[in-house]
Amino acid sequence: MSLDVVILAAGQGTRMRSGLPKVLQPLAGQPLLAHVMDMAAGLDGAHLHVVYGHGGDRVPAAFPDARCSWVEQASQLGTGHAVEQAMPGIDDEATVLVLYGDVPLVTRETAVALVRSASRGVALLTARLPDPSGYGRIVRDADGRVERIVEQKDASPEERAIDEVNTGLMAAPARLLRDWLSRLDNANAQGEFYLTDVVGLAVNDGVAVEAVESQDAEEVMGVNDKIQLAEAEAGIRRRRVEELMRQGATVADPGRLDIRGEVTCGQDVFLDVGVVLEGEVRLGDGARVGPYCVVRDCEIGDGTTVHPHSVLEGARIGSGCSVGPFARLRPGTELSAGARVGNFVEVKNSQLGEGSKANHLSYVGDTTVGRDVNIGAGTITCNYDGANKHRTVIGDRAFIGSGVELVAPVEVGEGATIGAGSTVSKDAPPEALTVARSRQMTVKGWKRPVKGKT
Ligand code: UD1
Ligand code: CA
Repeated sequence: MSLDVVILAAGQGTRMRSGLPKVLQPLAGQPLLAHVMDMAAGLDGAHLHVVYGHGGDRVPAAFPDARCSWVEQASQLGTGHAVEQAMPGIDDEATVLVLYGDVPLVTRETAVALVRSASRGVALLTARLPDPSGYGRIVRDADGRVERIVEQKDASPEERAIDEVNTGLMAAPARLLRDWLSRLDNANAQGEFYLTDVVGLAVNDGVAVEAVESQDAEEVMGVNDKIQLAEAEAGIRRRRVEELMRQGATVADPGRLDIRGEVTCGQDVFLDVGVVLEGEVRLGDGARVGPYCVVRDCEIGDGTTVHPHSVLEGARIGSGCSVGPFARLRPGTELSAGARVGNFVEVKNSQLGEGSKANHLSYVGDTTVGRDVNIGAGTITCNYDGANKHRTVIGDRAFIGSGVELVAPVEVGEGATIGAGSTVSKDAPPEALTVARSRQMTVKGWKRPVKGKT
């Protein structure tokens, strides 16, 4: 039996009040729809059909690498009509799983359970919600069997009091579904072809309808406006933070850590408040990230500490390093074990060898720094001549005094010392002192000017 997953993503999402189609609204750093597509792609042997419409090609264009069939629903005549658009590409023998692009937190386990239940007929994912408003309600007969689904806008006051809701997830055999879809009408409050009416048709045909109840109100939440978008964001944040804590991280406040990518961590990692982790981040054993740091696509080694208010992107940081406070590491930064980058230091596309330090107020760009180098406060590598970038090379054990400008391309030899305040535009030889500044002089008997009489 093959599995075809139809993901509905054609609606406008009026309640978002946005120029961006609803399914492209960002959630945890990805479009809303991406969350559903990723989950569906994880179902064994599933073929994905994504129904798009509102927003036109912007929706498929946002997923250039997706492995799915894109099905256009030119006008949005309802969820039933939307599923019908995908049916020509689906075999009679298949099982169809319908997912809604705006129900992003559903887990793979739940989807699998639903597909399994569809072997006997229609399977619906339902939930009991303390506040069911906005959702379709599950109407049961006197014996407790599912009879039909009524949409909020079509429901009587008694029906609105029902707290069992339709989550939007449904699975059914393709052959039966195709037939029911062709028999839908739009005689309802919204003038739409409702997918939910399939349930009443199945009951009439004597086909079993099984309600699978989700115990997790969060996983079934629909995202229709910015408030629900923020709730879904909080849900994802909580799930990811919990996953990190299971890996062994200590989190100062789970509500104040944002994970927007794939994070893996070793033991005894500590993450303080206000930390944002984006993209692919790896944290070694005992790594610590202080308050209000942004870390994107970085590797942080064992026992390394990132002090408060640092911004790190595309950096590989070895073990036992110290970064910040207020440091900025840009892509291509590599720090070897025990290196230190202190406050108001920016490093870009540069390597710092073992034990090397740039502790205060420096710019290190396009530079190869050996081991045990000291870069004094206020040192700047002048890597850009207005047209091209050039490299600076600093040998092992070099000592760069404070306030030095290294005009690249330039090389400072091993063990060299550069006097403070030098502007170094020629290579500095190893094991020697190079000073490139005007000599100090004193004018004896010099008098300060006095104000003239006018
Ligand atoms: C729908 C269900 C409701 C359920 C709720 C769960 C129907 C009729 N109602 O209501 O029972 O409780 O979801 O969240 O199914 N879409 C299309 N084409 C269309 C219309 C919608 O692709 O012509 C897509 C939307 O982009 C969205 C999904 O289908 O991803 C649901 O549509 P929406 O309008 O949000 O339905 P709800 O009113 O939330
Ligand atoms: Ca919805």
